[in-house]
Amino acid sequence: MFKVHFKSVAKVILFLRAVKVDIMDIKKEINRRRTFAIISHPDAGKTTLTEKFLLLGGAIQVAGAVKNNKIRKTATSDFIEIEKQRGISVATSVMTLDYKGVMINILDTPGHKDFAEDTYRTLTAVDSVILVVDSAKGVEEQTRKLMEVCRMRATPVMIFINKMDRVGKDPLDLLEELEDELKIAACPFTWPVGSGDRFKGVYNLEAGNIQLYRPNKTGLSEAILDTASKEDQRLKSIVGEDNLSKLWEEVALAKDLFEPFNKDLYREGYLAPVFFGSALNNFGIPELFETFINIAPYPSETKTNNGLVRPGDPEFSGFVFKIHANLNPNHRNRMAFLRVCSGKFERNKMYYHTRMSKKIRFSAPASFMGNSKSTVEEAFPGDVIGLYDNGTLKIGDTLTEGKEIQFTGIPSFSPEILKEVINKDPLKTKQLEKGVRQLTDEGLAQLFTQQQGNKKIIGTVGELQFDVIKFRLEHEYGARCDFKTLPYVKACWLTSSNKQKLDEIIKRRESTIAFDKSDIPVYLAESEWMLKIVKEAHPEVEFHTTSEFSNAV
Ligand code: G4P
Repeated sequence: MFKVHFKSVAKVILFLRAVKVDIMDIKKEINRRRTFAIISHPDAGKTTLTEKFLLLGGAIQVAGAVKNNKIRKTATSDFIEIEKQRGISVATSVMTLDYKGVMINILDTPGHKDFAEDTYRTLTAVDSVILVVDSAKGVEEQTRKLMEVCRMRATPVMIFINKMDRVGKDPLDLLEELEDELKIAACPFTWPVGSGDRFKGVYNLEAGNIQLYRPNKTGLSEAILDTASKEDQRLKSIVGEDNLSKLWEEVALAKDLFEPFNKDLYREGYLAPVFFGSALNNFGIPELFETFINIAPYPSETKTNNGLVRPGDPEFSGFVFKIHANLNPNHRNRMAFLRVCSGKFERNKMYYHTRMSKKIRFSAPASFMGNSKSTVEEAFPGDVIGLYDNGTLKIGDTLTEGKEIQFTGIPSFSPEILKEVINKDPLKTKQLEKGVRQLTDEGLAQLFTQQQGNKKIIGTVGELQFDVIKFRLEHEYGARCDFKTLPYVKACWLTSSNKQKLDEIIKRRESTIAFDKSDIPVYLAESEWMLKIVKEAHPEVEFHTTSEFSNAV
């Protein structure tokens, strides 16, 4: 009797110990993770900076590896060329590197503005961002929009002012512009030494030393001087007396005019450390990289429809924020990108898919080291893993160990360009329907159906998606289509606590009502003015411009 009792107590102790060790392991893993995105207005230097991080972290050995995958700014043909090489672009959706024991996950975001929604969704999966600004152009349209999304989620932001090797705006003016336009306190961490073709390096305001460089062929620069002495004779001879006195003047002014660093304010998204440099020449990048590793936040809690999930919670949970369909057109498989939010993800364990109330197991989850992909046994909060899927997973889906929760804040935005799909090959109707469904599952565009005549309407935020959809339908599904432009400028989701009122608007406005994939009614507005009139006519109905109605971001 005693023996039995003793045995069960011992078992409980062993179990508790195992759980404790597990939790401690998870905490250790969380603390060493930095999951972030580099974002910018197209052409500011996001790709070049990403590449320099990978070079510094030893994940790639030559410059140019990332560049080849980049989605080009304007030309559709370039984009389509890239799409043909989807295998590679999947690998660059997330790039992981282990730098001095810190696991860095860089999430890639498309540069083109027509794919902004994909970028916004990716930002739901990061803990911080580095925003790249072109020193000659300053704050641009996409810079502002991206910053708005960061502000909405209180994402910590660091700013890198790039292309200092070109003639650009005055550094002090740039900082003021950042503050005015981005509504964030700018805190300079480094200051440029010279500019244009006389740009030689950076002064580190925190450490009080100057680093001067010379570009070299490997894509990484060579340090030619590292000094903390203002009187260093070599400094004078390389930089020149004039440039030096200008530097000290500007630094003194900057210290006076701008906020000192405060980690809490940075972590809460009110203050942005600012760095100057040249991504192309790798000037000022090591300073940015080291500071990023030291101060960027590790994973923190995530909102669900039922409270917060903390990364240190022992049970695994995560959400899907991106899907790539048809990695290999012959196998029709897709890859869903999942961000781990809590606990430990393990290969081959059964997990609970909360939207479908069903259990799933993943036998070959992928992780992305540098620019190659491999099967992973376990993953921790902050990590992004690729899950092969045959159509079960959708953007926004939650996986848990059994908990009935749904992560929030992964919205679809109200589309502004709406076109009807016209089938050009009736023999391929099934393929067309399947293709449209799968491509819209990927988040490339949104699909609405109008009951009258079963019309399929595609909604996007940019024109380029239509070219991409058409191309992919033809090449991946063998279906041909055209798009007929519809006279709508916005689609708003409709809800009401009064079912009768909802039915009433659906009936009265039948010709401008469609349904999304979850059968939620959507009002298609012909103009902002019309939207206002219809809203006034149906005061008990709510009109939403993001798909996430019940849980605000
Ligand atoms: P993006 O991803 O933000 O769109 O920008 P990307 O890194 O592709 O950079 C856009 C252009 O700016 C590229 O030139 C790149 O070489 C250049 N660039 C990036 N950083 C710097 C810098 O520090 N100084 C200077 N002078 N140029 C920089 P491109 O001509 O469009 O492409 P490529 O022909 O060089 O590949």
